[in-house]
Amino acid sequence: MTQNDQQDEHGHGPANLQRRQLLASAAILGVAPWLLSACASSASSNTSPTAPAQSARSGFLPASQRRMLGTLEVSSLGLGCQWVPAAVEGSVSDRYGSTIERKAAIELIRTAFDRGVTLFDTAEAYGPYLSEEVVGEALQGIRDQVVIETKYGFSFDPQQAQARGGRDSRPEHIKQVVEAMLKRLRTDRIDLLYQHRVDPQVPIEDVAGAIKDLIAEGKVLHYGLSEPGIQTIRRAHAVHPLAAIQNEYSMLWRGPETDVLPVCEELGIGFVPWSPLGMGFLTGTINADTRFAEDGQREFRASVPRFAPDALPANMALVEVVETWAQRKDATPAQLALAWLLAQKPWIVPIPGTTKIAHLEENLGAAAITFTDEELAELNAAVAAVPIQGDRLPPAVMQMSGVEAPLPR
Ligand SMILES: NC(=O)c1ccc[n+]([C@@H]2O[C@H](COP(=O)([O-])OP(=O)(O)OC[C@H]3O[C@@H](n4cnc5c(N)ncnc54)[C@H](OP(=O)(O)O)[C@@H]3O)[C@@H](O)[C@H]2O)c1
Repeated sequence: MTQNDQQDEHGHGPANLQRRQLLASAAILGVAPWLLSACASSASSNTSPTAPAQSARSGFLPASQRRMLGTLEVSSLGLGCQWVPAAVEGSVSDRYGSTIERKAAIELIRTAFDRGVTLFDTAEAYGPYLSEEVVGEALQGIRDQVVIETKYGFSFDPQQAQARGGRDSRPEHIKQVVEAMLKRLRTDRIDLLYQHRVDPQVPIEDVAGAIKDLIAEGKVLHYGLSEPGIQTIRRAHAVHPLAAIQNEYSMLWRGPETDVLPVCEELGIGFVPWSPLGMGFLTGTINADTRFAEDGQREFRASVPRFAPDALPANMALVEVVETWAQRKDATPAQLALAWLLAQKPWIVPIPGTTKIAHLEENLGAAAITFTDEELAELNAAVAAVPIQGDRLPPAVMQMSGVEAPLPR
């Protein structure tokens, strides 16, 4: 087993104590873990499932701006729901040093829906399990009006909620974890199911075949791949049409422009950029002196080379570009960074993550920002002129990207 096989997309190691304690407490009390969080849905129970009227730049996504991921219609921006157990019981942490009460995470999701967001991204690995549970709870009562996307592909011990290490996309494993996902998400179908990372042991034809079975059963409606190799995209698509590829893409990491986006365009596959705000870097809240303290899985940036003290000062040149253009477009840096992504292709749907309703509302305002062709060309050139120092991910996580699945035996 290689080092990267003991980690997930963000280099998660075995799950933490907090989560085990929660599950143990749940087992002792004989209740589902989500019931241990106090009054989690009370904040949202008064939330109307009917979206309010549109207003420009106010952080509302009108239905007229929906986008297509393959044949799946979604809001032009989604919400990333990636939380891990916090040090404090009843709270959740993101991967970037923020902690909120679990009921605040639920309120965030409900607010996103009220503001026109219909796409919610999560994964089995986020927690593990915790994020799917929060999403499932938050979407009660509005389930039929939203699109849930989640991901499988790593190996976990369900009793311990702990990473076993390694990827696992064997067809029987996929079918097994989908049953558990449906329970956590409190639904009877997953709108868009991604393979989180290519399994180097399993032909993609076998993976797509398993998904096809799940689609025939109505348990999965559409499927996608995250960070796959190019030939793997083509081979999967030949078995059953892919709805979306989910890769890192932002002004800070433009790798998909080389070959992934052209393949998506050619095959009619949607594209969902993860870390569209460059893990917060593009929002103007990080400077050359920012240091990220190690905090287990609660501060991922501490292990990312491009945020290391020797890389940050040079990389700040990109933030200057973002800030200059944000001013020019009467926008905030976060809005500018998201609007840039939206402007690249009409089938791109970013899924920014946040722990704050104010940031959520700000981010949704990006959909109201447009560029002329000349502006976009000028901005693209300015972004391209900044050489970024340091890799986008730690080596063990990088090794799992762009992997080609083995050929069928
Ligand atoms: N497929 C994959 O392998 C993969 C990998 C990573 C992530 N993802 C998905 O992609 C989603 C988004 O990516 P991400 O969360 O890694 O990165 P991101 O969206 O690029 O950045 C999130 C960071 O930006 C900050 N932020 C958001 N809006 C802001 C604003 N308006 N002003 C200032 N700061 C702001 C957040 O802090 P605050 O909480 O303070 O707002 C947080 O620290 C995740 O939630 C997850 O669903 C998928």
